[in-house]
Amino acid sequence: VKIEVFFTPAEAATVDLEGRVAVVIDTLRATSTIVEALANGARGVLPAPSLEEAIRVAQNIGRSEVLLCGERRSLRVDGFDLGNSPLEFTEDRVGGRSLVMTTTNGTPAIVAGSAARRVLIASFLNLSAAAEAVASDGGPVAVVCAGRERRFALEDAICAGALIRRVAAAAGLDEGGGDWNDAARLAAEYARGMEGSLETVLRGTAAGRQLIEAGLEADIAYCATLDRHRIVPELRDHQMTL
Ligand code: MLT
Repeated sequence: VKIEVFFTPAEAATVDLEGRVAVVIDTLRATSTIVEALANGARGVLPAPSLEEAIRVAQNIGRSEVLLCGERRSLRVDGFDLGNSPLEFTEDRVGGRSLVMTTTNGTPAIVAGSAARRVLIASFLNLSAAAEAVASDGGPVAVVCAGRERRFALEDAICAGALIRRVAAAAGLDEGGGDWNDAARLAAEYARGMEGSLETVLRGTAAGRQLIEAGLEADIAYCATLDRHRIVPELRDHQMTL
């Protein structure tokens, strides 16, 4: 299987995603939160690349018909119903609801990936399920890390590496091989040593430190949990659903 990892959306923009299955990762916290929301019964999550676009989409649908969610500088946006903490997206709050979400890095990365044949959402919370979905698709894979403010983010690279190691295992293939790009090889090799200490590693990243400063450190432990859910959100018609 051809597997390429892109550490930022800008890197992913250098290739033609058409024909590939794209897997978007924003470990802290957007893709973890999307997984949590759908696991808790949200009907769908519409990703918006900007605040303005999120508000416009919510108004078009009907403001009271949707939950407007997202963050800037880790915190809930004024006037929004929910922020971007997976712990907020309980069954009580999101069950049966449609969500419009905008986050600093995660939702723009999802929108950027939307040229792909399929767009799947991964995080540590649904890692094995996402890997199995990718392996059973069988097509070429582009793992798109959201990164942080257009730069490399270690937590996304580790999640990408952990994901593709599981894709290889599920497909019965050796790790690496001729069809993996250099970023995929690095990510897989690095993730191998990190999987036993995810929470500690995540706490030390720039995104982790920002969450701790914002008083949101419980989110880090939550986002570092492996395989809490066996679901794979997929973008279809501008909306992520199961
Ligand atoms: C993002 O999309 O930039 C992140 O999820 C930021 C955050 O932790 O809220």
